Amino acid sequence: MSDPKKLFIKTYGCQMNVYDSERMAEALGGQGYVETKTPDDADMILLNTCHIREKAAEKIYSELGRYRGFKDAKPDLKIGVAGCVAQAEGEEIMRRQPMVDLVVGPQSYHRLPEMEDAVSRGEKALDTDFPEEDKFEHLKSRPKAARGATAFLTVQEGCDKFCAFCVVPYTRGAELSRPADRIIREAQDLVERGVREITLLGQNVNAYHGHEGGLAGLIWDLDKVDGLKRIRFTTSHPNDMDQALIDAHGTCDKLMPYLHLPVQSGSDRILKAMNRKHTREEYFALIERIRAARPDLLLSGDFIVGFPGETDQDFEDTMDLVRRVNFGQAYSFKYSTRPGTPAAEKPQMDDGLATERLHRLQELLKEQQVAAQEGMVGRDVRVLFEKKGREAGQLIGKSEYLHAVHAEADDAMIGTVQKVHVIEARTNSLHARLVG
Ligand code: SAH
Ligand code: SF4
Ligand code: F3S
Repeated sequence: MSDPKKLFIKTYGCQMNVYDSERMAEALGGQGYVETKTPDDADMILLNTCHIREKAAEKIYSELGRYRGFKDAKPDLKIGVAGCVAQAEGEEIMRRQPMVDLVVGPQSYHRLPEMEDAVSRGEKALDTDFPEEDKFEHLKSRPKAARGATAFLTVQEGCDKFCAFCVVPYTRGAELSRPADRIIREAQDLVERGVREITLLGQNVNAYHGHEGGLAGLIWDLDKVDGLKRIRFTTSHPNDMDQALIDAHGTCDKLMPYLHLPVQSGSDRILKAMNRKHTREEYFALIERIRAARPDLLLSGDFIVGFPGETDQDFEDTMDLVRRVNFGQAYSFKYSTRPGTPAAEKPQMDDGLATERLHRLQELLKEQQVAAQEGMVGRDVRVLFEKKGREAGQLIGKSEYLHAVHAEADDAMIGTVQKVHVIEARTNSLHARLVG
């Protein structure tokens, strides 16, 4: 038998790309590829890309530039670009980087085996369709290899919201939910292979409608899967947080008390210009209902500063919203102009001013994050241990609130949930000791 071919995949962007990269590796497994951790010895290099901000997209071209020498040294090396840049730029990628053999969009990667065949015959392969068929159903069932304690599972894709700044509706297409029974089967299979925590993924995961009870209905079905200890989901849109999902946060033990609920801005004027379709007061009211259901829930968010037309007052409204809500964790970005989006047509803001605002916002968010972490000291939390720590005898895992936790523990505890007492908050993790 010939040696397996080696596949190097580099993943950018959101968790959905992480999930897609796993599935692409599986799809190419049937073509005789096994994954390798470095591009040096690869027979195929695949970049799974992100188009959300300009920097993310430009990074791909500089990364491709790095591989030019590889191709000179090994002419039959195959180079592919997948993901959202592939979808957005298609053929343009091959024009800018002629050494690229294959371009595949996020909805077409079940067709990778045929595309790889075409490239082997010396052809170029491009597929950025939004096909009728569901890629998930065309992928072979997943191999039975053992897995770590945590896994992502995509349940919903695409977006119909068309926020004025965002490329996702164009790169990922319309909202589509996978049928619940297939998801349950995939979850059971993951659990059989050692997974104890599943994070359900979707660009608008709480708009999931593959179950008559919506995302909450799916969560309650997953709650019945034996051996599955924890359920999380991301990313949610405020307008799709229905009462059943809020209630599940109060009553479903497996559903973890952590919620990523981006608001983007605290200014009604900017929210409207962004086409977010809710006001700041509506966001406050929603947070109140969520905290009534689960008072200790750790809230996370996304923010954009420097959206076209953002005034000092608009920005102060964002700062005020952050102070009032108090986020345990958050991501914040300077607005990036994306070609083809409505906001790109508007007069753009002064870059220096946007940078200054971003720093101020990040300082405040950091303070809140540190306070949340320090607030854990002296408390007992439950940790799902995922792997060995850097120091001997130490394991690393996540608390219910998604804080990274280190503790002295036996290796046999990897993949189990343990009660620990938090002793100290460090920069990016909590230090704890086992209880009992
Ligand atoms: N579906 C999710 C977000 C997906 S994109 C939601 O609606 O919240 C992830 C984050 O990237 C967004 O929440 C937003 O904060 C940021 N983002 C998206 N487009 C951007 C742009 N053009 N410039 C800067 N940040 C952007
Ligand atoms: Fe983008 Fe808005 Fe859709 Fe989120 S809801 S993916 S920010 S368009
Ligand atoms: Fe990026 Fe596409 Fe995800 S643009 S954030 S990889 S959906």
